[in-house]
Amino acid sequence: MLNCDTIIRNASVLDGSAAASEVLDVAIHDDRICAIGPSLECSASVVMDAEGLALTPGFIDVHTHDDTSVIRTPAMLPKLSQGVTTVIVGNCGISASPVELRGEPPDPMNLLGGVEDFRYPTFAAYVTAIGQVHPAVNVAALIGHTSLRNNHMDRLDRTATDAEVDAMRAQFKEALDGGALGLSSGLAYLSANAASTEEVLALAELLASHSAVYTTHMRTESDAILDAMQEAFEIGRMSQVPVIVSHLKCAGIANWGRSGEVLDALDTARALQQVGCDCYPYAAGSSTLDLRQVDERVRITITWSTPHPEMAGQSLAQIAAAWGVTQYEAAQRLRPAGAIYHSISEEDMRRILSHPATMIGSDGLPNDPLPHPRLWGTFPRVLGRYSREAKLFSLPEAIHKMTGMPARRFGLEERGLIREGYCADLVLFDPETILDTATFADPIRPAQGIAGVWVNGVLSYTSDGATQNRSGRFLPRGKTAWIQ
Ligand code: ZN
Ligand code: CU
Repeated sequence: MLNCDTIIRNASVLDGSAAASEVLDVAIHDDRICAIGPSLECSASVVMDAEGLALTPGFIDVHTHDDTSVIRTPAMLPKLSQGVTTVIVGNCGISASPVELRGEPPDPMNLLGGVEDFRYPTFAAYVTAIGQVHPAVNVAALIGHTSLRNNHMDRLDRTATDAEVDAMRAQFKEALDGGALGLSSGLAYLSANAASTEEVLALAELLASHSAVYTTHMRTESDAILDAMQEAFEIGRMSQVPVIVSHLKCAGIANWGRSGEVLDALDTARALQQVGCDCYPYAAGSSTLDLRQVDERVRITITWSTPHPEMAGQSLAQIAAAWGVTQYEAAQRLRPAGAIYHSISEEDMRRILSHPATMIGSDGLPNDPLPHPRLWGTFPRVLGRYSREAKLFSLPEAIHKMTGMPARRFGLEERGLIREGYCADLVLFDPETILDTATFADPIRPAQGIAGVWVNGVLSYTSDGATQNRSGRFLPRGKTAWIQ
């Protein structure tokens, strides 16, 4: 008889590969899946009857800004409560390590926290901190181009000199040797916008020999988005590495309806090189308040403001009216600030979400006092609202976008699939009721329908909430990113 700790019986198993579900038993021993099959004979001390429930690999949130929150709030409830078992941090050019600040963190590094949160001058120091705090979810990390720039440049509104590029390369190589997944850039932000393509390439060059990836918040997501995509693809081709376009969208009212041509450009590139993207399932974005995105026709909600904290939760239009100024002037007075921009068309978002190259990434902002609801709602929303109700894609496909596909693309070994010998990151949920409940008005609400979440074999969350057993680990890059 099989020696195991937990057996989940009669679950409708979706294994993460996009294959159809099958009713099976899954057994866990220590941190691994030790057996899968019909009617397993097993000595488990914990037996769970999962009839009618779906069992899938734990969800991988490929696009997060959880760098410092995994340490400050290791219970990680916004993610664990959705069934997320691994977060990829360090996106959009901003990572918490390796970082040495000389003053306040520049925009948008301030999304990750204040000066006190940047305590990791080396990537190794960050990895050690994860190991000490034991967050509830696994953590894998990209290195941010903007963070590297800020370490070595006196100002960020110019391209780096050769000496500065050399210093960034040395620090980046050390992080790659320490298990970082790859490079992220945030070229749209003013802290990286002046960087030349060559500056990014000088860093991306180091990726191929490490089987690492390049992810990018592109130079623009509005009018010139096709040029920005070409720049991203060129960086991938020149350095021979996979490219992942972050939170792909057509931003701004003038660009609504352009998802078809954007996805055509993605497909054209996919015929030549390894390219993918991630997407969050909402028709609104969120970041720091950017004057370039102020448009009187777009509803913009202020989520925080350093000079005017009392304005959080109000729309920019309301604030401008109360102050008797234009929205642009109000935005100037509010900065530094955070905002939600209702500047994406639902139809474009649905088309991008449905594309076979699209993974799911929340882009949630955990430090925001009034966060975009994607922080708590992304994964159940994709499953409940867009797969079950809107039928944009099947449940096996939806699960694949959040498990098997990201594990393979980012090189997370022995994760993302339900296979014998793989790490026991698992989610049990009711496919008939799973749904997000977080809204723009009431964003801090756990999803419904999640029955159990195991992280490295440890039951960490049930329908009663977190179990207090935290079992996440730092996940180093594997050897095999994006083998088809
Ligand atoms: Zn971004
Ligand atoms: Cu982001």
